[in-house]
Amino acid sequence: MPWDPAQYLRFGDERLRPALDLLARVPLKEATDIVDLGCGPGHITSILKSRWPTARVTGVDHSREMLKRAAADAPDLQWRQVDLAEWRADHPVDLIYANASLHWLDDHRSLFPRLIASLKPGGWLAVQMPCNFDRPSHQAAFEAAEEESWRARLAPLLRRRPVAEPEEYLRWLSPGAQRLDFWQTDYLHLLKGPDPVAAWTQGSLLVPLLQALAQEEKEAFLEAYRSRLRKAYPPDEAGRTPFWFRRFFLVAQAG
Ligand SMILES: C[S@@+](CC[C@H](N)C(=O)[O-])C[C@H]1O[C@@H](n2cnc3c(N)ncnc32)[C@H](O)[C@@H]1O
Repeated sequence: MPWDPAQYLRFGDERLRPALDLLARVPLKEATDIVDLGCGPGHITSILKSRWPTARVTGVDHSREMLKRAAADAPDLQWRQVDLAEWRADHPVDLIYANASLHWLDDHRSLFPRLIASLKPGGWLAVQMPCNFDRPSHQAAFEAAEEESWRARLAPLLRRRPVAEPEEYLRWLSPGAQRLDFWQTDYLHLLKGPDPVAAWTQGSLLVPLLQALAQEEKEAFLEAYRSRLRKAYPPDEAGRTPFWFRRFFLVAQAG
């Protein structure tokens, strides 16, 4: 799937904040092996390397474009092009870090126990996933995708509820974890420019939808989406668009 690092990084500062909030809750001191699942453009993978400079840090992603950008910026790190659904650790690792990536995968009931089982005893799993699926930013995309012209192609791609309730993760992780730390944060971003919420989701939520459309349909779909967003996210008097974005965080230590 062609992810566009430049589009994704248009909101790099806003997207970095939850990644750092997640990292701040990982109390790991020494590490030899760290994996960043769904590493994207790799800037957070480099931050992991700075925090644990002697560790072997590997970024994993299926997007060639993202990995190209990551390897250009940090050629000394390890980069692997793999579908996360197929990814398995070669050997137990100290930290699996996954910021804003695992909601793209299905079957969390088997995924999460498998991830915690890939850690060394006492190792850490740190995950952040968006929880904005019932907000206008996402609902408007689902509604636009249901329009007659492209419904047959787009409806099967919609991921309406890819993140389960926190209690489910508690149930799936508890057998393998000695410590669990869960929280949610709702960030109020103040975005600039025209149609900024659509520009934001164009770097993430919309990627598979736009990919399924012909070039001339993409603009029509985007306009159907943007017109809904303009009602839901009007700019304030200062020209900023307030955009609430809720995220779910989970840090688990393997038993
Ligand atoms: C929203 S970006 C997050 C990037 C990075 N973790 C960050 O926080 O900036 C999601 C990333 O997950 C990757 N991704 C999505 N589904 C994937 C899959 N099945 N296998 C591997 N990577 C996947 C995408 O290519 C993209 O780079």
